[in-house]
Formats: sequence, structure tokens, C-alpha cells
Amino acid sequence: MIPFIDLKGQYAKLEENVDKAIKKVLMHGQYILGPEVAELEKQLAEFAGTKYCLACSSGTDALLMAMMVMDFKAGDAVFTTPFTFFATVETIALTGATPVFADVEPDTYNMDPAKLREAILKVKAEGKLTPKAIVAVDIFGQCADYDAISAIADEFGLPIIEDAAQSMGAVYKGKRAPSFGKIGCTSFFPAKPLGCYGDGGAVFTDDKDLYDIMYSILVHGRGGDKYDNIRLGLNARLDTIQAAVLLEKLKLFENEIELRQQVTKWYKEELDGVLQIPVVKEGNVSVWAQYCPMSPKFEAIQAALKEADIPSARYYPIPMHLLGAMKYLGYKKGDMPVAEKIAETIFALPMHPYLDQATVKKIASVIKSVVNK
Ligand SMILES: Cc1ncc(COP(=O)(O)O)c(C=O)c1O
Repeated sequence: MIPFIDLKGQYAKLEENVDKAIKKVLMHGQYILGPEVAELEKQLAEFAGTKYCLACSSGTDALLMAMMVMDFKAGDAVFTTPFTFFATVETIALTGATPVFADVEPDTYNMDPAKLREAILKVKAEGKLTPKAIVAVDIFGQCADYDAISAIADEFGLPIIEDAAQSMGAVYKGKRAPSFGKIGCTSFFPAKPLGCYGDGGAVFTDDKDLYDIMYSILVHGRGGDKYDNIRLGLNARLDTIQAAVLLEKLKLFENEIELRQQVTKWYKEELDGVLQIPVVKEGNVSVWAQYCPMSPKFEAIQAALKEADIPSARYYPIPMHLLGAMKYLGYKKGDMPVAEKIAETIFALPMHPYLDQATVKKIASVIKSVVNK
């Protein structure tokens, strides 16, 4: 069976060093906020080019901390994309704020800046909600159009949270994600481009005040002393063992991003014109968290792949505004036509840095046998 994401193959390369790093943690015994966590935060901030990084327990908690420090609350409108993983929208809703969707671009699947501007103007004209912030998502590993989104954010005085759960290390015009918002949030879920062996995440910022408050939120709103709780917070720490694993994986990461470019080049050579393949805009380097083409024949393609023992998946079959959990917002089919159209035909092929050319050719030949029938 061809792996969808080859974590076992990656572990084979890391085994000796990861095992040693985990053993070291087991021996020193600082399982919570041990020295590996601080070292990881230092290296990640350097990697992303931000002043501060705070490691935490998941991408979801990273988003929640960012939204808590920005004081999202009932009556706030938070502008985001309908084409993402539910956590982006779920966290906005958990704060009591109202997610307001702006449709996406048909080629990158990322938020369309023109639609964002329209959505902000509409909320302002209605006067029911107060525009609060923009949560942009770097879907499948490619950064959103931050020049255009930042210009709109500045025009309306709104901060940006970058949901970089899928885009750790991606490049946009010479800078790495997650460094494009007031706060950037990433995930170290195992299947992510930089993943640990459990749940994990991090927030990134250049703002010392925001960092200090998030540092407090991370541990139950601690003050100067652990038992002097000065605000409501979470238990959102990253385990020391996961930090130790990530420090080892970080050593391979840049090379893995390069290898991902090679894999997608092979996919492009094989599948351009056969499927609608994903587009990377000029000035971007995607980290290819997923490789998601579109085809009206995706069901037959997935069946043929399964027959050939090749895994595939569907990200994401239901756009956020049509999910049951978001029904209370009152959106209906047709409100986000681009996201809806993408969701109808998009699917995901195996994607990881260690996919070889022969395997890509094999996957492509199965796909061609269906499409060219
Ligand atoms: C776009 C997006 N946002 C947020 C998350 C949440 O991350 P986590 O699973 O680490 O909580 C994910 C993870 O799947 C994601 O893809």
C-alpha cells in the first residue's frame, strides 16, 4: 500500500536521534515545560522570522489563544474563509464572535481579497456587528495573498490572525509563514508538514504585549506566580516530549520542503491537462500540506485508486457556511459559489517528501486510465 503521508518512512530516517531525544526527556524528568520547549520556541521563531514563538498543545488552541488575547466576543464580526478545516471557524464561534465568510479564489482556494472587502463593507452597512479581525488561512500549504489582505486590513483598521496550521515554513514574497498576521498560528498534528507524534501547535508574533498575555493564557491565566491567576486561560502547553521530537524533525524540515517541490513537479508533469491541478502563485513556495486537484470524475478516480491500493481523500467536501454546526449563521447554498464549486470536485492525492517518481507515475497512470476512458 502506498502511504498517503509516509510518517513511518520519515521515522526510519530519524529513528536513532528521535529515540535518543525522547530518552533524554524521560531521564531528565521535566515533562512539562522542559528545556526542549524553550529551545524549540527559539528555533521556530528564528525559522519563521518573528520575535516571539510560544509552543502550545494544538493548532486549535493556538487559534483560541490568539482570539482570546484579541478579545473576540459576542457582537464582533470576524472575517474568514469558507474553505478551511472546521477549527478555524469553530474557534471564532467559541469566543462568541460571529464568523463572516468571504469567498475564495478559484485557483488557489485561498480567501479572495475582493470578496473580503465586500464582506467588510456589508457588515459595516448593516450595522449589526462590529468588524473585529480577519482570520486568513493558508490552505493546503500556500500563503494567502497577504499584500492585498493587509491593505484591506489597514484600510479598515483590522488585525489579521494567520491560520498557518497547514503552511509552517511556506514562503510568500521572501518571508516565511507564519509571520504575516499580528499573530500567526500553526499546528504540529502528525500529518502536517512539520508534525510531532501527537497534538501540538504554536503561536508567532512580533508583539511583546500579545506574547506576554498569551504566555499567561497558556497556563490558566497565570500572573507572576503560578497560583496568582489574573485572567481566564487554558491548559495549552506543548509536552516536552513533543518539543524534543520537533527539534529533531526541524533539522530535516528545509530539505523536506525542497523534496515536496520535486514531488509536485512530477505530479504537474503527469497531470497537467488531465485534472485541474493546484496552482501556486508567483512569489509563493507552498509546503504542500496536501496535493488537491479537482475533477468532475473524482469519484471514479478515487474508486480506481482504491482498487490499485492507492489511498486518496477529500479535503473538504462541505464548505464551512453549509456545515450543520454553522446553521445558526443563516447562510444557504449559493452564498459562497466558488468554495461550493471547489468542494464538489476536489480530492487529495498521496503527498509527502519521500514520494518517488515511479510512484507518482503509477498514481498518474491510474488517474489517466479513468479520465481518458
Ligand atoms: C486550517 C487548519 N486550522 C486549524 C487546524 C487545527 O489544528 P490542530 O488539529 O492541531 O488542532 C487545522 C488542522 O487540521 C487546520 O488544517
